[in-house]
Amino acid sequence: MFATTRMIPVLTAAAMVVLASALPRSASAQWPPERLENLEVLPEDISVRELIGVMRGITVGLGVRCTYCHVGEEGQPLSTYDFPADDKETKEKARVMLRMVGHINGEHLADLPGDPADRLTVRCATCHRGQPRPLTLAEALTEVLDEQGTDSAVARYHALRDRFYGRATYDFGEFSLNGLGYQLLGSGRTGEAVAIFQLNTEVFPESANVYDSLGDGLNAAGMPQAALRAYLAAFELNPTMRGLQARIDSLK
Ligand code: HEC
Ligand code: HEC
Repeated sequence: MFATTRMIPVLTAAAMVVLASALPRSASAQWPPERLENLEVLPEDISVRELIGVMRGITVGLGVRCTYCHVGEEGQPLSTYDFPADDKETKEKARVMLRMVGHINGEHLADLPGDPADRLTVRCATCHRGQPRPLTLAEALTEVLDEQGTDSAVARYHALRDRFYGRATYDFGEFSLNGLGYQLLGSGRTGEAVAIFQLNTEVFPESANVYDSLGDGLNAAGMPQAALRAYLAAFELNPTMRGLQARIDSLK
């Protein structure tokens, strides 16, 4: 095992394939494996091919690599991975999840009235949408706000947007940040709310609604002049917005 690991960098990929198939060290030291050794949840009679299909689905559903749950080194051939090993807690969590998904589909959804042929099934991706911890954008940013503050949360927003825009993982529509802003406002975190509303106006400068929300935040923060400016910006974008004129009048 150790000798082989040290040898890998000096071997070409082709040489590795030959080595892996000609000199299997054990069932777990070749890819694809000859047999499956340590299944607790998936059916014992699942074929290696089917199992690999399941694993690919899990990997895409969670937006991770095999090494998220399995012992192995990124960039090395899969034949060097120890797939049966239970060293990683994430693999144990995935077993709980596999059981949970089995219960949801096999018991709860199966109890729904109607034609079973029309029924949808829950998969990992149904909740995870390409991330290992299924958070909404607001939840992901709230974690950063709580732990590292406003600047870091704004930076995280941009990083997530750069990486995930156009995918199902996070909703980058204007209502995500707006909802987060009002949630913060509701729990008295006014300064953070204003920062989030402000960020939303930078991302959606054509939206009257987000300027109107910024006005609400600034007003709550005791900054009536700045609030008026935000409401007037909203007015310019959409003069017929409901209640806006009254908000402007009350501040003039
Ligand atoms: C989110 C965690 C997770 C990821 C990611 C993952 N697996 Fe797994 N894998 C598991 C779990 C859990 C089992 C055991 C299932 C059981 O107990 O029935 C398993 C079992 C296996 C086994 C059977 C090992 C044995 O002989 O017992 C193989 C092979 C395997 N995975 C390959 C892969 C490959 C290849 C990838 C990447 C494409 C991958 N897995 C990604 C969680 C994961
Ligand atoms: C009904 C929604 C739902 C489905 C379906 C689902 N998960 Fe999860 N999963 C969650 C939630 C919620 C968490 C976060 C739990 C926590 O730590 O608070 C989670 C956490 C996890 C974690 C731990 C992540 C970490 O880093 O702590 C793994 C691994 C995981 N899920 C794997 C899977 C796999 C594999 C599947 C498909 C077989 C799956 N999940 C299907 C909701 C779901």
